This record gives sequence, C-alpha cells and structure tokens, in this order.
Amino acid sequence: MKKILAIDAVGCLVDIKGNINKSISKILKKIDNKKIVLTNADDKEKKIFLKNISYESFSLKHKPNKTNPKYYKKFLTKYKLQPNEIIYIEHDIRAVKSARLNGILTHHFDGNIKNIKNFLNSFLNKKQNFPKKKELNFHYYPHHPVVIGASNGKKVNFMPCVWNSGMSYEPFLYGVSVRKERYTNQILKKSRFFSINFLDFKDVNLIRSLGRSSGKLINKTKEFKIGYSNGYFSNVPILSKAYLSFECKKKFTKTYGTHTLFVGKVELIHTDNKISNKSILDISKVSPTLYLGADHYVSLNKKTLKNLKKIPFHKSYSARNIKLIT
Ligand SMILES: Cc1cc2nc3c(=O)[nH]c(=O)nc-3n(C[C@H](O)[C@H](O)[C@H](O)COP(=O)(O)O)c2cc1C
Repeated sequence: MKKILAIDAVGCLVDIKGNINKSISKILKKIDNKKIVLTNADDKEKKIFLKNISYESFSLKHKPNKTNPKYYKKFLTKYKLQPNEIIYIEHDIRAVKSARLNGILTHHFDGNIKNIKNFLNSFLNKKQNFPKKKELNFHYYPHHPVVIGASNGKKVNFMPCVWNSGMSYEPFLYGVSVRKERYTNQILKKSRFFSINFLDFKDVNLIRSLGRSSGKLINKTKEFKIGYSNGYFSNVPILSKAYLSFECKKKFTKTYGTHTLFVGKVELIHTDNKISNKSILDISKVSPTLYLGADHYVSLNKKTLKNLKKIPFHKSYSARNIKLIT
C-alpha cells in the first residue's frame, strides 16, 4: 500500500484566513498518494481554514489538540493505520514532537519550501525502516575485513573482523569490534597483545574459512594449514600471507551492546616489500579484500583510481599537510 501523506492545515497548507500556500499545494499535486489534512479546527474554524482545501480532513476539535500525543493515537485508530503507513508535514514543533512520539515520520515545516521538496523526494525515492531486532543490515558495506591474530599461550587463533578502524594517528591506535560470544573475544579479554592482518583478494577463501569456523572447537592453524610467525615486539601470531600486519598492545576495552571494542596501540608495522616504499597502497600490486556482507566479497577495480592531490584544499581547511612518502 502506498503511504498516506498527512499535512498540517493552518501554518502549512493554508494561512489563518484559509488562503492556500501555492508553493506547497503545487508540490502536493505532483504526488498521487492519498492526502489527509490534520487540523485542530472546530466546525466554525473549519469553515474559514479549510474552505479552499479539497483533501479530506481529520480533527478532534481541540479535544485534544495536536500538541497532545493522544491526538495522533486517535487519528491512527480511526483510519486503522500503523504509524509506518503515513508520513506527515507539520509546522508546530510541539505537534511534530507528539506525532513522532507515536512513531510517525514527521517533517517540521519551518517555512522553507526547498526542505519540504527534499523531504518528499526522500520519501518517494527512499525507504525508511526502524532497525529491528535480529534483522541485520549490511548496506553500509563494503568495508575491508582484517584478520585478528591472538594466542592464549596454548592455542593460536585467527578471526576475520570487518568492524575495524584506525582510531588515532598519535599514538597510532587501531580498533576491532568483536562479538561477546566469539572465542577470539575470550582470548582478547585476557591478552595484552594481538595482531591485525590485511589479506589480498587472492586469499579471500582463507578469510571465509577463518570466519566460518571457531577456534573454540578446532585448531584453525592446523585445519587450514596457516603459515604464521611470532611477532618481534610481542609474541603475537602474524599471518605470513598478509601484505600488512600490525603488532598491537591492548590499550582500551569497552563493550557496546553485542560487541566489545578492543583498541590496540600499533607498536610495530610489518609491510610487504612490494608496497613498502609508498604511503598509500599500490593497488597495481595489492588487491585489498572488501566484504559486502552475508558471505559476499569484492575487490577494487584499479581503473577507478582517481588522484585529486593537485587540487588545492579549501581555505577553511586548516589541518597540516599530510606527509606522504611517494
Ligand atoms: C568477512 C567476515 C567478517 C567478520 N567480521 C566480524 C566482526 O567484525 N566482528 C565479529 O565479532 N565477528 C565477525 N565475523 C565473524 C567471526 O569471524 C566468526 O564468528 C568466527 O567464526 C569467530 O571465530 P572464533 O570463534 O575462532 O573467534 C566476521 C566473519 C567474516 C566471514
């Protein structure tokens, strides 16, 4: 079913004398969704405010007004609508708040017609969903997975982790977010060090294998014949196949919902010779792996590389120039 467009009367579609706001009316005419005008007007007021409006209207005649969330509850009940079946444009911020309290997606009209257009364009061209429990959304990928290497003294374990990020230049901090139930989480909680390894797309199957098996039940290094060496700064396992590895000293541990963020200070960087003479990755030699979610992987298309270095920064940009080794 197409969503219903609810719209405020006085202050939005009409003025206090009932004159139509032509700009808004023009925009609404282009949209063929059903429209309902939401008003507080009693019968006498309706004769003035709604005299030029052809859309059907809903009012509780001030009992209560739209500033009271019960107004919208009654409106939804009368039309047998779920909040996600309508969108709404309203000028009074207090009414906007009470509509939103009922879960109605509401645009606050502050006189800016362009913003109404943008709101309606977004409504027509995009889908709005509230995140649901147990429903995963991966549209924000691709992102590169790293492989975390860790040891509990008895067993060496590797786990891919797509929720990873650089966190600070100085000190050089890198974070990985690991679900509480993972075997790797147990190890990292007790370890002082861990490694972070970046793999080329040619090793994508290894990433897949490590991410769909658990060190709790097997020894992954034996099962997948993984070549690794011990770190030089610490004893962390470093994947031999990695084109880049960090030896990290654990600095911060914090749990957010389902995951624990482990932030490590990068103490030593191992870079494959073929990429070591440049600050940025030479993608003619290395093809980083990107993860799309749900066991889908992609790599970079080298032809898309765009170098914008020669374009000067905007005058508002006060950061130091970035030191690059080229
Ligand atoms: C490409 C890829 C990326 C993943 N990213 C994460 C992640 O960011 N955080 C996480 O907790 N699990 C992630 N996983 C799931 C773990 O890698 C997976 O549960 C693994 O079996 C855990 O290994 P372990 O039990 O030996 O610790 C990912 C899996 C794959 C295949």
